[in-house]
Amino acid sequence: MCGIVGYCGPKDATDVLLDTLAKLEYRGYDSAGIAVFENNKIRVEKSQGKLSCLIEKIKTDGKPTGHCGIGHTRWATHGEPSDINSHPHGNKRVSIVHNGIIENYKQLKEFLSGQGYAFESQTDTEAVAKLLDYYYDGDPLETIARVLGEIEGSYALGIVFRDFPGRVYSVRKDSPLIIGIGKGENFIASDVSAILQYTRDYYLLEQDEIACVEDNRVRVYDVHKNPVEKELQAATWDVDAAQKGGYEHFMLKEIYEQPTAVRTTITPRITEGMPDFDECGLTDEKLAAYNKIFIVACGTAMHAGMVGKYVIEKLARTEVTVDMASEFRYRDPLITDKDLVILISQSGETADTKEALRISKELGADTLAFVNVKGSSIAREADMVMYTHAGPEISVASTKAFSVQIAMMYMLAFKLAYAKKKITKEVCAAYIAELENIPEALENTLMCKDTCQYVASKIMNADSLLYIGRGLDYALSMEGSLKLKEISYIHSESYAAGELKHGTISLVTEQMPVIAVVTQHDIMEKTISNIKEVKARGAKVVLVCAKDVEIENEAVDYIVRIPVIMDALMPMLAVVPLQLIAYYTAVLRGNDVDQPRNLAKSVTVE
Ligand code: M6R
Repeated sequence: MCGIVGYCGPKDATDVLLDTLAKLEYRGYDSAGIAVFENNKIRVEKSQGKLSCLIEKIKTDGKPTGHCGIGHTRWATHGEPSDINSHPHGNKRVSIVHNGIIENYKQLKEFLSGQGYAFESQTDTEAVAKLLDYYYDGDPLETIARVLGEIEGSYALGIVFRDFPGRVYSVRKDSPLIIGIGKGENFIASDVSAILQYTRDYYLLEQDEIACVEDNRVRVYDVHKNPVEKELQAATWDVDAAQKGGYEHFMLKEIYEQPTAVRTTITPRITEGMPDFDECGLTDEKLAAYNKIFIVACGTAMHAGMVGKYVIEKLARTEVTVDMASEFRYRDPLITDKDLVILISQSGETADTKEALRISKELGADTLAFVNVKGSSIAREADMVMYTHAGPEISVASTKAFSVQIAMMYMLAFKLAYAKKKITKEVCAAYIAELENIPEALENTLMCKDTCQYVASKIMNADSLLYIGRGLDYALSMEGSLKLKEISYIHSESYAAGELKHGTISLVTEQMPVIAVVTQHDIMEKTISNIKEVKARGAKVVLVCAKDVEIENEAVDYIVRIPVIMDALMPMLAVVPLQLIAYYTAVLRGNDVDQPRNLAKSVTVE
């Protein structure tokens, strides 16, 4: 969950490292640090807090001058955020930055302490730095290979040895790392978006491959030190996609990018009006043969899976189980080789989802991944992958990634229902036609912005909120509640509206606003009754509903109305006001919207 970078080239290394780290701050922002070769010595600058704190420190200390170095932005796992726990770690001879977790660090520390090493930080990383120093024999490759044989866990490492100024070594296992290939300059980075302003060309480093990066050459070896030929990849995301583009926050920009993201994701998968999954080999015959479907994901991606479950079960009459990946991996799931497991992930690097994928493969199921980041681990390891085309999502709170994930769930549901002969070709084509109207409907939905801002001003001082809904509206209310918690720091819970009376309604007072989602016409009256029940107990009610929903004025306090489309597709629109309410509430409370406390964008640890 940290970001690492490295640079070798003619430019000022400190500038490049700080610049590329800024693009990775979404991965963690508890502390930041760099190590730069200055006059053939390794100079380290690091500081607790965001990158801006490191920049201030460098202003005071004086800027390290050199043309090669490594950098880190941290999401703390072992040891609190502090100067001493900040990366890089090491000594005058070797310095490292690390993303991941070293599981056997205690044993390593014990061993190294016995060899006379003293530890200053509480991190797992320091054990690797010291182990590299312990085994160092003048041959970096040999030393790294030896250390790899002794460390357990996940890692992407950037390593510099004092004896080899101008070189950055790197290696990875279960944490992402790419090698950026420029002209007379090369890079390492946790994510390609960090280096887009310098180059679009990159190598994907595979498990336990070791790279030796210099300004004019990059050599890659396997763990036995045999050279490996790498295939050059080209990034398709453009530089502007990772900039705020005039918006106050990435989150707002990404909310506004949803119409384009959905269009770009669905259009290439529609042939003659029908869903087309040929790109991953998922034919109608193959789909129809699956017995059960499992959807496994975390957080917002899991909520996209919940939407998928409702739609698939309703249209394709096929059993779907949705799991949080962190639960799935330990619950010994009843999966067979006749089942399909769908993994959903924006980053493609979420540790629990990745493990769920591996378990599913071991159990013999077919695996299909909906992933946004090209070349990420989940995308590479799944049997079939379909990329969502949201472009880079920088804000920690996921918005456009959710919309493209549910768009893909709809495509799959329509295709499966047709393949299983539960709907005709005409009905399938009608659903697809409605899906093609979504980008325009999303543009119209975004016009509710001012109302959402007003609602935010009314709920911003609440200590706790309830979100309620039924069916698809319940899935959406889960997502609305997560979004609010994540960035506004107001506690909220999502409840199936019909379940309230079984306990939770006792919490409802004038102090607890209720946000109700009502877009499904068949169960609308039921939810409206529940709204009246909370209203009767003093709650201020915010209703997010389809334009044609009729409700007495006295039953609600604030209404956000959205365009009416087919009920099944309403989640595509209803999520927008929920995102905007969360966004404006966080803004009004003065929070750091894009980088909320304690969080990181990509959860690469368990
Ligand atoms: O990269 P992923 O889609 O696998 O990430 C899953 C969750 O960590 C993510 O959706 C998280 O819940 C978001 N911060 C929510 O906004």
